[in-house]
Amino acid sequence: MIACKLAALAQERLCSLALLNATGGGFECFPKLNRQMMSLASNRDNIQETPVKRLCNTHNIITVNGQFPGPTIEVKEGDTLVINVVNKAEYNVTIHWHGIRQKRTAWADGPEFVTQCPVKPGESYKYRFTIEGQQGTLWWHAHSSWLRATVYGALIIYPRGNNSYPFEEPSREVHVLLGEWWNANPIDVINEAQRTGAAPNVSDALTINGQPGDLFNCSRDDTITIPVKAGETTLFRFINSALNTEMFVSIANHKMTVVGADALYTKPFTTSVIMISPGQTTDVLVKMDQAIASYYIAARAYSSAQGVAFDNTTTTAILEYDCGYSTKPGPGGISPIFPYLPAFNDTATATAFTTSLRSPAKVNIPEPVDENLFFTFGLGLINCPKSQKCGGPNNTRFSASMNNFSFVLPSQVSILQAHRYGLEGVFTTDFPSKPPVQFDYTAQNISQALYQPVKGTRVYPLKFGSVVQLVLQGTNIVTGENHPIHIHGYDFYILAEGFGNFDPKKDTLKFNLVDPPQRNTVGVPVNGWAVIRFVADNPGVWLMHCHLDVHITWGLAMAFLVEDGVGELESLEPAPVDYPLC
Ligand code: C2O
Repeated sequence: MIACKLAALAQERLCSLALLNATGGGFECFPKLNRQMMSLASNRDNIQETPVKRLCNTHNIITVNGQFPGPTIEVKEGDTLVINVVNKAEYNVTIHWHGIRQKRTAWADGPEFVTQCPVKPGESYKYRFTIEGQQGTLWWHAHSSWLRATVYGALIIYPRGNNSYPFEEPSREVHVLLGEWWNANPIDVINEAQRTGAAPNVSDALTINGQPGDLFNCSRDDTITIPVKAGETTLFRFINSALNTEMFVSIANHKMTVVGADALYTKPFTTSVIMISPGQTTDVLVKMDQAIASYYIAARAYSSAQGVAFDNTTTTAILEYDCGYSTKPGPGGISPIFPYLPAFNDTATATAFTTSLRSPAKVNIPEPVDENLFFTFGLGLINCPKSQKCGGPNNTRFSASMNNFSFVLPSQVSILQAHRYGLEGVFTTDFPSKPPVQFDYTAQNISQALYQPVKGTRVYPLKFGSVVQLVLQGTNIVTGENHPIHIHGYDFYILAEGFGNFDPKKDTLKFNLVDPPQRNTVGVPVNGWAVIRFVADNPGVWLMHCHLDVHITWGLAMAFLVEDGVGELESLEPAPVDYPLC
């Protein structure tokens, strides 16, 4: 029933070690068919509660098919997927296929109240979409409240037919899902924060493939072990599925050659550490050229905000050369070698990594620019309603915004549905193309008068085919921070990034118009900016937001409304028959 490459490799070549959480349950792959029918549900398996033990405690968590992390979806470029999501949990849920372009199929994108109403308990929805022009590592996750803390998994797109990778064929492949674990129900954590206006509690542990690893009590026996063989090359597909933590990742004594990011190939370059933000993926080749031993893969936070609490734990997995080599300290065992990790606030290392990314060859940069946009974004504080006590700084509630608008989701209908069927009063099309007030965005002492955003559901309309250039400018309101900004339904070129305020005169000269990297999520430098460019060639409503979930909860989001072009191939498909209504 399951024809999944990882499991096959593990069985063929290695003794029976758990390479990763095996895919199984009600998940079916038919890799040779062009049209694939996959089910994230069967009679037995679905989105449901499952008891899981971590950090010495057992909790019921929401899972897909009883697995944590959820099942891996492995497909080929060109495949059409039909994924039936059956909700047997007690919460409303939607699933987002992070990074999938969803050409003409915005109905299947997933963000709650943006492209669909949630799938209610007891109901189901079939997500249908085709994967076109994308290869590499993506992932899927719940896009409803904080359910994605436990509802997420890898989505791997292999080249079609006889095509292979544009780099040395690896002997093995593994995916490494970085995550966060709370000793509490994550939905309770965010609900409590929403009630008081305070920042939510940080997670209790970072995880690799759902496991905190060797540095935690009660976790050592379950540490993920990745078997490798001396002389071979392994492709690691790193995915940051954590809610709120950007991370540095290193492998002791091994260099990593970066070959892809966000399902787009990159010009290979070698590094000993990667920085990866929530939402992003990074593919690296690692040559097993060290002595036969065990080595830790370790990850911990890159935390760029000042005075903000973060999960400062370190998660580990073990790279184990040749099967059966003893990895545990104790009689006859030797501790694995530990890698160097940068300091939590090492912005220089984060920047050195992100600015090394390039497209593999010269690209045709879309031009001329039709839409020149400038969006500021960051945190804010909202005054506490009279007669209440609020948990934010100085009796306020935390907030966040783009161009001073704090995004509010509708609750009775999705924006896409309202757009398609002309329903009035759900959203307005007046999201501003530049900040309403100009100020020194990254100054140390920004006037408190600028701290309070305005709530609203405003979208920015785009004509089909228009070339969009967007300056993403971080602010230092409350605190500056590296924010991973993600656009649904699009990949974009990152032409340049820098610190301070974007200056069109001198910074335009720094644009890389030759081989800029293309991604779906850009980590905009702390108190800095990034300039991105894309063609609005995908009709629908597309959420853009910070992928730190705490910030999306506070409103750090907006949406683009891309109009239909001419003819069927430039227009949104009709809504699916089982499209969920509120
Ligand atoms: Cu992975 Cu709206 O995001």
